[in-house]
Amino acid sequence: MFSKDIGIDLGTASILVYVAGKGIVLQEPSVVALHKDTGKLLKVGTEASEMLGKTPGNIVAIRPLREGVISDYDMTEKMLKEFIRKVTSFRLFKPRIIICVPSGITEVEERAVIDAGIQAGARRVYLIEEPVAAAIGAGIDIAKPDGHMIVDIGGGTSDIAVISLSGIVESTSIKIAGDQFDEAIVKYIRRKHNVLIGDRTAEELKMKIGCVFPRPEETSMEIRGRCLMTGLPRVFTVTSSEMIEAFEEPATRILEAIHGVLERTPPELVADIATNGIVMTGGGSLLWGFDKLIESHTGIETHVADDAISCVALGTGKSLEWVNEMQDGTINLSRRKQMN
Ligand SMILES: Nc1ncnc2c1ncn2[C@@H]1O[C@H](COP(=O)(O)OP(=O)(O)OP(=O)(O)O)[C@@H](O)[C@H]1O
Ligand SMILES: [Mg+2]
Repeated sequence: MFSKDIGIDLGTASILVYVAGKGIVLQEPSVVALHKDTGKLLKVGTEASEMLGKTPGNIVAIRPLREGVISDYDMTEKMLKEFIRKVTSFRLFKPRIIICVPSGITEVEERAVIDAGIQAGARRVYLIEEPVAAAIGAGIDIAKPDGHMIVDIGGGTSDIAVISLSGIVESTSIKIAGDQFDEAIVKYIRRKHNVLIGDRTAEELKMKIGCVFPRPEETSMEIRGRCLMTGLPRVFTVTSSEMIEAFEEPATRILEAIHGVLERTPPELVADIATNGIVMTGGGSLLWGFDKLIESHTGIETHVADDAISCVALGTGKSLEWVNEMQDGTINLSRRKQMN
């Protein structure tokens, strides 16, 4: 083989690229910066993300996947092209690419992802569902007749799935994840303190003092924002228990989604999940206390996978081994067996 096959975790917050034989070679934010008038692409990834919220009038920095799977098709394609170019030194042979997508994806969205991959230079594009990739990446042997529950909380979507015999038995994908927790902080601070803060400050608060379950020791952080009464900058302190209040709504939505999936899962598999526990992946699962919150609501032991942020990319990378058995295009890995 002259070209290396590539696995891509096309996330709403970050993109990870896995190259066969090398592992994860790139991890950058899913952001592009472009010239407003000409539409010309200026920067992608880390460099573009540093511009978010700080661009002058003629430059815009956007997250093309933010609102769902692909909210801005052209930009997603350009961004993919740029990342693929970065990791392939040899351009004579086009690589085969497996792209990971949320489990709730529609056929139209599948088509858009495949087209973006082809336009970006792939010879063939295959899709894998995010929770399946996450489970493989978390080291779960998904081929056995044994039920496992994966809760992948990313930036834009949370995917909850029960997997057995390499397939998804029951799942849901909701658009409540890391971004909505950031938004919940912005709203809360505005309501409670009458101060407007930016998305980046909100994300920093979430990572440093955020929690969805009481921390053993209360922590706090000093932040800056603009007072809505005076219009002037204001410095004030936010505590971790305020974070629990701020996150109540999005956290409850995720708990309800987990509950719903458990309710629809056949009893034998629920019994397996009770034995195996729930595994959490994705950056959003690092929000302090999420495992404890799920455990306290379901009574099922829950833990965050090692390397939670890279699990999906690692699993997508591992599934490259099966690429020869997969059919082109719209066939998801988990549906591979049924198609043969
Ligand atoms: N330590 C942390 N604590 C809380 N949240 C975190 C932490 N680290 C990352 N996150 C959040 O994780 C989210 C990104 O996770 P991830 O990279 O898994 O998303 P993604 O795969 O790009 O998105 P999706 O799967 O929805 O398409 C962001 O909202 C980020 O703020
Ligand atoms: Mg993800």
